[in-house]
Amino acid sequence: MTQQTANIQNYLDEQAGRFQNELCDWLRMASVSTDSQFADHVRAAAGWLRQRFDDLGFQSGLIETCGHPIVYAESPPVPGAPVVLVYGHYDVQPPDPLDLWHTPPFEPRIEDGKVFARGATDDKGQLLTHVLSCEGWMKTAGALPLQIKFLIEGEEECGSKGLYEFLAGKYDGDGISAHDRLAADICVISDSSQYAPGMPAITYGLKGITYYELRLDGPNRDLHSGTFGGSVSNPANALVKILAGLIDDAGRVQIPGFYDDVIELTEREREEYRSLNFDDAAARQDLAVDAFTGEAGYSTLERRWARPTFDINGLWSGYQGEGAKTVLPAKAGAKFSFRLVPDQQPEKIKAGLERRIKELCPPGIRMELIDMHGAPGVLLPIDSPFMEPAARAIEAGFGTRPVFIRCGGSIPVVGAFKEMLGIDTLLLGWGQDDDNPHSPNEKFSLEDFQRGIKASACLWQEIADMKQS
Ligand code: BES
Ligand code: MN
Ligand code: MN
Repeated sequence: MTQQTANIQNYLDEQAGRFQNELCDWLRMASVSTDSQFADHVRAAAGWLRQRFDDLGFQSGLIETCGHPIVYAESPPVPGAPVVLVYGHYDVQPPDPLDLWHTPPFEPRIEDGKVFARGATDDKGQLLTHVLSCEGWMKTAGALPLQIKFLIEGEEECGSKGLYEFLAGKYDGDGISAHDRLAADICVISDSSQYAPGMPAITYGLKGITYYELRLDGPNRDLHSGTFGGSVSNPANALVKILAGLIDDAGRVQIPGFYDDVIELTEREREEYRSLNFDDAAARQDLAVDAFTGEAGYSTLERRWARPTFDINGLWSGYQGEGAKTVLPAKAGAKFSFRLVPDQQPEKIKAGLERRIKELCPPGIRMELIDMHGAPGVLLPIDSPFMEPAARAIEAGFGTRPVFIRCGGSIPVVGAFKEMLGIDTLLLGWGQDDDNPHSPNEKFSLEDFQRGIKASACLWQEIADMKQS
């Protein structure tokens, strides 16, 4: 440890209590992006973050888009040193269902060394670690050892439309283009999880996704199921037939060409995942299920990290009130999605899906398939020169070397950074799998928060040192 990093670590330790208070202030802002009722809170959160960058002496601003603003900030340039792009999102998922929260989602509660609030882990708490590590550098050394550009969006949880338009140059105005503005050597994102408590990780693979809504229409009105049943196609019956026809009992998706572009797990990956000794029994117990299921021939970790999947996310039709009602419903519908792995492409899956559902759809039913969003998966080069510096930084912050993992979640912009900016991403997640993102009682360990800040502070030094070696 150099004198400088020792000074920073001391500063971070001294400020730990205040950092915790700031985290709570930040989580109090209800930045729910998908619901327009929260628009003022979303804007307030963007303003708070922008002010935070301003306080550090960074050049900062709000980029107005078709949706919620992007917060952009950069530290002063450091000639000859690398440039890092930090991406994150200040928006959060809706807190519903509210009655399952033990305390209100936007009144952060600290219990048992964890902070409970919507956005605690996804992604406000995690992204704040990078802001606070910058404060450590600015307050002790007066400058960072490299330049950092922060791109923090407010629409990750609802499709990132504004961000994609910004990346495509739509908000360039007369100034510098988004492409030039974001020029960097590497991107860093903390918006994922560690392997387990005390086992920090570098994530080298994310899944892609392709998400649909299917609407089925049958007769022009609800019918008596005795009078008409058995003579008219029932949209609810048709819906379950179609959905059931998309996957077989061995967990294989039944769409023509679906597996064509799947990159298979390597023997080395399978070996490494086995060596992580995933505790199936404990994981089952945590979820109160008596078995794990999925594609035949693969372990739980392999299914979660590296195999494509199909899940119905919602479905509706017919009578759902109290008691029984003998109805043949006029309509039925569902939302469903496939998680993809490299090199599957959403467009290609869609063509096969359309063919397959036509095949499965009975006569007398009109079908409408709505493509809601999609993004390909990513695999990051495990032999990248940035991996060892990142591993050292994590070891400095967490006291142990990271393991290499993939994950089942999607961060769509990672692929766009590669394609549009030509840079790879270091996915350094500080969360835990049971942090309940998108779910009631979301939380983030305060110890992981403080370790994340330390690891981040070391990361800037580690990356700055790379150019010299
Ligand atoms: N932070 C998550 C992604 C994530 C979750 C990564 C768990 C690693 C582990 C992100 O905010 C998210 O929710 N992504 C969505 C993207 C989708 C809506 C396109 C997801 O994965 O469902
Ligand atoms: Mn997230
Ligand atoms: Mn999320």
